[in-house]
Amino acid sequence: LARREAAFTRRQLTPIDSATGRTLRVDGRDVIQFCSNNYLGLATDPDVVDAARTALGRWGTGAGASRLIAGSLAIHHELEAALAAWKHADAALLFPSGFMANLAVLTTFAGPGDLVVSDKLNHASLLDAAGYSGATQRRYPHRNLKRAGVLLQRHQTAAAESDTGRGDAEGPWRFLVSDSIFSMDGDAADVPGLSDLAAAHDALLVLDEAHACGVFGATGAGLAEAAGVEDVALSVGTLSKALGSMGGFVTGDRAVIDMLINAGRAQIYTTALPPACSAAALAALRIVQRDPARRQRVLELAERVRGALRAMDYDCGESVSPIIPVMMGTADQAMRAAAFLRERDIFVPAIRPPSVAPGAARLRLSLMATHTDGQVERLIAAFGAMRSATRASRP
Ligand SMILES: Cc1ncc(COP(=O)(O)O)c(C=O)c1O
Repeated sequence: LARREAAFTRRQLTPIDSATGRTLRVDGRDVIQFCSNNYLGLATDPDVVDAARTALGRWGTGAGASRLIAGSLAIHHELEAALAAWKHADAALLFPSGFMANLAVLTTFAGPGDLVVSDKLNHASLLDAAGYSGATQRRYPHRNLKRAGVLLQRHQTAAAESDTGRGDAEGPWRFLVSDSIFSMDGDAADVPGLSDLAAAHDALLVLDEAHACGVFGATGAGLAEAAGVEDVALSVGTLSKALGSMGGFVTGDRAVIDMLINAGRAQIYTTALPPACSAAALAALRIVQRDPARRQRVLELAERVRGALRAMDYDCGESVSPIIPVMMGTADQAMRAAAFLRERDIFVPAIRPPSVAPGAARLRLSLMATHTDGQVERLIAAFGAMRSATRASRP
């Protein structure tokens, strides 16, 4: 802790005294937040809240048991059917969180002798899950599919040379694993490129659509939908971001989902998702499917903010999503930038190592469809003032 304190990387919890809307009550003040994954504002949508309230009355607070014992409630099955249809998949399975969905996917299907090829900037849950799986994990430089191909090819050649006689179904298996929208950079993976690469190397594609669900695609199903890619072997999503609830899910072929039900320890040995979360997510999903205006609005606001910040010479990386990194450099610089905004009642915590690489500390902005034009203008003006202040303080 002392070392972290000295390096400006010690973390603290900030109590929030309000619902997670576009504004928050923090330390007795109302602040505008630009750091929520509740991209569409559905966590406080009256229809979604009503669905949760009704479910509480009908089902009570907790599921009471794991899915395989007595916790597999009708509302879970209804939500899974809706998620599978949304994702054009055979079947879906819920998990208590997106983290656990990723954990289950890789620890169920990958094992010793297999290869997991991961983008270096994949979410921590994917990187950790690959570690726990016992498979060999190789990480490729961010979005560098050429390098990913080399890693897959090496394993494919070695497997062919040491023919175990076990046949395809017995492996060894290769997994190509990527976020579709990267959580700290807001940039996008080349999903058609990943799909082609997986096919070329007889690998299973695992795509984490946590930040793309609800935001991209004609029906909001994610980046694979937007790119017209249908052959994702294991698609992971979360109910906790644009869908405004809690829980993760995996979609895929029936056999894949049956295998997760049978062997996914992160699902077997834990209590089923609370019914009210499931009902809220289902109501949110229905809104996402029928109302493209929300995702259009959040993407349009993000475009506006990126344009304005870039015009002021801020480095926003290659963001294409509601997540916009504003690079600050050291952890100390990022903390000072966050404090500058906070003095103007704008709440955007600094993202520091180890969540990002040393020297890549940043403010990670995220827009919500419910932000008003005026709130977005205030954000842009605050960055303008920060720019003037830093220029004025230079010798
Ligand atoms: C890319 C990605 N995958 C998975 C998760 C985990 O999802 P959850 O918050 O539902 O556990 C997150 C965020 O926390 C994420 O950013």
